[in-house]
Amino acid sequence: MAMKNIAILTSGGDAPGMNACIRSIVRTSNHLRIKVFGIQYGYQGLIENNINILTPTDVGNIIHIGGTILKTARSDEFRTKNGRDKAYNNLIKNNIDGLIVLGGDGSLTGANIFFKENNYPLIGIPCTIDNDLYGTDHSIGFASARETIVEAIDKIRDTAASHERIFIIEVMGRESGYLAIESGIASGAELILIPEHERTLNTVINEIEEINSKKKSMIILYSEGCKFGSLKKLTKAIKNHIEGSNVRYSVLGHIQRGGTAVPSDRILGTILGNKCVKFLSKGEENKMVGVIDNKITLYPINEILKKKRGINKELYDISNMISKY
Ligand code: F6P
Repeated sequence: MAMKNIAILTSGGDAPGMNACIRSIVRTSNHLRIKVFGIQYGYQGLIENNINILTPTDVGNIIHIGGTILKTARSDEFRTKNGRDKAYNNLIKNNIDGLIVLGGDGSLTGANIFFKENNYPLIGIPCTIDNDLYGTDHSIGFASARETIVEAIDKIRDTAASHERIFIIEVMGRESGYLAIESGIASGAELILIPEHERTLNTVINEIEEINSKKKSMIILYSEGCKFGSLKKLTKAIKNHIEGSNVRYSVLGHIQRGGTAVPSDRILGTILGNKCVKFLSKGEENKMVGVIDNKITLYPINEILKKKRGINKELYDISNMISKY
């Protein structure tokens, strides 16, 4: 039976490009004569029946706006069977035939459980600045966050150079160093610390000392998943070890997640939104749409969740080879 009504939700951390994707889903569906419902506040909104029709004009003038017009949340209630049952009942009550979930790892985990329990047709679209999902080269939001980080580091570098300081800059990425590596390479960071490369604090401090002996200032990019304790502690340890060193740290925080999407995220959002509607309406389910080597991919969500997307090791090695001078 042809799909008549579908719903979209955005879940987990917002990511620049989500709005371009929502726009594409709504307008592609309109072209295919499918009605779209927007669910506010992610899975929590689905549980609370916070669902409204989205028309092609509703999604005008949003392509350049960061965040998500549908709002997002991390729902604890959806982690419970009772919460997911309420969500399912609301989809049925509203005659919705399929669901599109925009989000990262946690959102897709929720989608996978929901599918298994209810056999309800759904497709996921990768949206996370962490770019830690298997099954796509890039997730929506990653390129914009990388741009924001590089812009920030360029500014901090001016201060680092003028004051001849060592700067530690913490970036997001959860357990993945992917965002740190690409941002570090693009900003010429002298050292990139990532959770995938485990080493002792002593080794790191010795390396910082060695680089510092050749340079008057340096940028250390610190991925938030690293286990060297707080940045305050790391700063103190460097100061104690390198006599006369002038060390500062800066946590970029949520500045990395907000802001207007770069063109590549808008294009990715538009393509994935368009393909997703077509796949869902053709009967595909519990899969995530992505792009690998410029080709559209469609992988089962449970396979995606079993595998971890690795870092770009080659890029990391290049950075280590050329950035310390
Ligand atoms: O997954 C995206 C992300 O920004 C991570 O990089 C970060 O660890 C986390 O979300 C922060 O989450 P919150 O905004 O809920 O504090």
